[in-house]
Amino acid sequence: ATLPRFVDTLPLPPVARPIGQREHPAHPGRRLPLYRMEMRAFQARLHRDLPPTTLWGYQGSSPGPTLEAKRGEPFLIEWANALPTHHLLPIDHGIHGAEKDRPDVRTVAHVHGARVGPNDDGWPEDAFAPGHSLLYHYPNAQDAATLWYHDHAMGITRLNIYAGLYGAYLLRDPEEQALALPDGEHELPLILCDRLIARDGQLYYPVSDDPAAPWVSEAYGNATLCNGKLYPFIEVEPRRYRLRLINAANARHYELSLSSRHPFVQIGSDQGLLPAPLERMRVELYPAERADVVVDFSGLDGQTVELRQPSEPLLQFRVRNRGDKNAVSVAMPTALRAVPRIDPASATRERILTVGEMDDANGNAMMMTLGGHHWSDPITEDPLQDSVEIWSLVNLTGDAHPIHLHLVRFQILERRPYDLFAWNERKELKYTGPGQPPPPHEAGWKDTVRADPDMVTRIIVRFEGEPGKYVWHCHLLEHEDNEMMRPFKLLPKG
Ligand code: C2O
Ligand code: CU
Repeated sequence: ATLPRFVDTLPLPPVARPIGQREHPAHPGRRLPLYRMEMRAFQARLHRDLPPTTLWGYQGSSPGPTLEAKRGEPFLIEWANALPTHHLLPIDHGIHGAEKDRPDVRTVAHVHGARVGPNDDGWPEDAFAPGHSLLYHYPNAQDAATLWYHDHAMGITRLNIYAGLYGAYLLRDPEEQALALPDGEHELPLILCDRLIARDGQLYYPVSDDPAAPWVSEAYGNATLCNGKLYPFIEVEPRRYRLRLINAANARHYELSLSSRHPFVQIGSDQGLLPAPLERMRVELYPAERADVVVDFSGLDGQTVELRQPSEPLLQFRVRNRGDKNAVSVAMPTALRAVPRIDPASATRERILTVGEMDDANGNAMMMTLGGHHWSDPITEDPLQDSVEIWSLVNLTGDAHPIHLHLVRFQILERRPYDLFAWNERKELKYTGPGQPPPPHEAGWKDTVRADPDMVTRIIVRFEGEPGKYVWHCHLLEHEDNEMMRPFKLLPKG
């Protein structure tokens, strides 16, 4: 039986409020607003006609409360693990970092896209067991952007996020504020992910045929959650809305469109505003990518508009009749924010980094690597603070992988076809055609890039930030957990 659509309202996660002020030991002499995010198990209804589902979330909510940050206003978050000691989902103990001698339940929070110090970034091996907590410092010293937070525990990130440990983190700044984009109730975070949900309402995580090695290469669900609900609806006014689209899925990518055949007006990508608004009929989002879009419901009084993933409706907007004459749609700015291109000539180094998969010794489970290395191999990526590097991601596989670098924002230079055979035979990087520059919606600041098959995806990065160890990885969570993650070390300049 299929669930009736559009019977539940779209949940809007609560906005997090500070619980007080505190000094962080590493930043003495300054009392900062303190938030507390407690991870715990709870029950929630994903749909009116389903029994309650056991989920994990922050402050009893999944998505967790939305963190509202302003540039130049640092704060602290105490991330506390109050989860049960038994995991909700099947752990594969053969995965590095998930060995049997570790507590099954371990968590560590990471703010995706945040420029934070190495001790506040959610280092995967710093994951901690129930009963423990960590205090992290967020400088919020970067441009306005749609960030998000999620779990990052070594070897079980895919399970922790799947269980519900994710939420939105919206960073604002005065320049963006001056654009008078739709705000308040006209600005909606919209976090999408798919889950495998059974009739009993519970979350199932797909497993392999081998009970001793349940890992699967990609977990796909049978239903899409919009802010934690299945097929919800929301009443909107006939005016413009700003939607902060976040793909929090383990592996699914979205190709969103509107049933009204109106375009989305994309104003931002992962790391903030684009130079100018772009009309797009479809918005494609790979795991961890974000799109900041404006949708105009004016003139659609009394009608409904569906957000679709190709033909499947995910969310319904019910446009009210304009009763209120003051509800005029705000005008759209024509220019947003300059995105100066990083000059490739300023790069001091180009790194050729493969994205690879191979069958393991038994020929079944796949082994995944970045740069041909495993997580625990010695660090090979060691950029100098403030230097510019080009990373050329050579995709040796048949699939697209969304590659994410912590700490930094970057620009896409090009995707260029290459000869896989020449690489496999002699490790020769032989281009077979001209590079394709990024389309306009990918020409802004990014932190996650789709590395396409048969292509070398070349990005340019200025390594700003505090020296120390960070990670880069594939954001298909099953890949990330199975070795498609590497540390990098930012070396101090001078
Ligand atoms: Cu979305 Cu390593 O993170
Ligand atoms: Cu991958």
